[in-house]
Amino acid sequence: MTERIVLAYSGGLDTSVAIGWIGEATGAEVIAVAVDVGQGGESLETIRQRALGCGAVEAYVADASDEFANEYCMPALKANALYQGHYPLVSAISRPVIVKHLVKAAREFGATTVAHGCTGKGNDQVRFEVGIQTLGPDLKCIAPVRDLALTRDKAIAFAEEKGLPIETTKKNPYSIDQNVWGRAVETGYLEDIWNAPTKDIYDYTATPEFPPAPDEVTISFEAGIPVAIDGVKVTPLQAIKELNRRAGAQGVGRIDVVEDRLVGIKSREIYEAPGAMALITAHKHLEDITVEREQARFKATVGQRWSELVYDGQWFSPLKRSLDAFIEDTQRYVTGDIRMTLHGGQAVVNGRRSGTSLYDFDLATYDTGDTFDQSMARGFIELWGMSAKVASSRDIRVDGK
Ligand code: ARG
Repeated sequence: MTERIVLAYSGGLDTSVAIGWIGEATGAEVIAVAVDVGQGGESLETIRQRALGCGAVEAYVADASDEFANEYCMPALKANALYQGHYPLVSAISRPVIVKHLVKAAREFGATTVAHGCTGKGNDQVRFEVGIQTLGPDLKCIAPVRDLALTRDKAIAFAEEKGLPIETTKKNPYSIDQNVWGRAVETGYLEDIWNAPTKDIYDYTATPEFPPAPDEVTISFEAGIPVAIDGVKVTPLQAIKELNRRAGAQGVGRIDVVEDRLVGIKSREIYEAPGAMALITAHKHLEDITVEREQARFKATVGQRWSELVYDGQWFSPLKRSLDAFIEDTQRYVTGDIRMTLHGGQAVVNGRRSGTSLYDFDLATYDTGDTFDQSMARGFIELWGMSAKVASSRDIRVDGK
């Protein structure tokens, strides 16, 4: 029986050419799998037909948009996940769900190998292959761009020679990855890190310099998950989409960073994640009133570690699972409403209310009616500083300073 390879298919030039390229290099039959993670753009049926036109023996489209929102974006939101303080893990969280569907397709179609279109320089090859090793330890991995010398020039020549149904003339200097959680743009002119991004780079966000009138939105959360926007019930996917639209119109969520890749390279990336950034901001502010201080401080560290693990392709690792359990526990009381103004590139919170709030007006107020006994503070401070005070008098005794 001819060997079968499942290919993660995007519909673009590289993966379209990869279908025939893999076939010629290995003699295997190629099954193209496209996964819908809310990337928009062309219809998935168009993409499926193109895969067949490029020589795939089967082409399969998995609708994973709700699954991606519920099981990947929501955990990232609960973690307030921002890698190196900036990047909301747009591509990093999409790889594990794509892997899940690739492995499933490999089983259904009797494939022995999974292929992806990543280069040998990035994080995504790691995320795909570590994921495949974990979910399908018997499956082999192959990356035609990295392992079968499929360069861009060769891809264009191959497509033209075989008359593949794909545009080879459209010159896009950028490498783009997008899904409902956001969009990542790199390479080309951006590789000079002194160059500011030009307008044509952006797609999810309008320019924040000339914003429309301020847009006030109320987001309601239950246990850390957005459940309503302006009082209208929403699913996680609907919440992200609605905020992509509204925060995007105000230019919220543009990010320009040089980040540390797992492979040791620093790289410049432009992200736009209007919905994700608006949701993370709102969620963080709701946690500020509903999560107890020590839990909140510790959670910030856990969230950072969680982001690093996910960035580094460890989505299916035991540590990530344990951190998920901690984060989930902290979300028990993260229920309530956040009101924020979206305007001119900013999402600014200006109101919060919650039935599970720890904010106690009577303790906090400086007006009459204050229930806080200020006489307790003196003794508390005396004891709080005791340890450092004792050490300091020792330092003076021993070192004379
Ligand atoms: N640097 C980001 C990451 O590793 C995004 C990579 C996405 N790819 C792209 N072509 N921009 O998660």
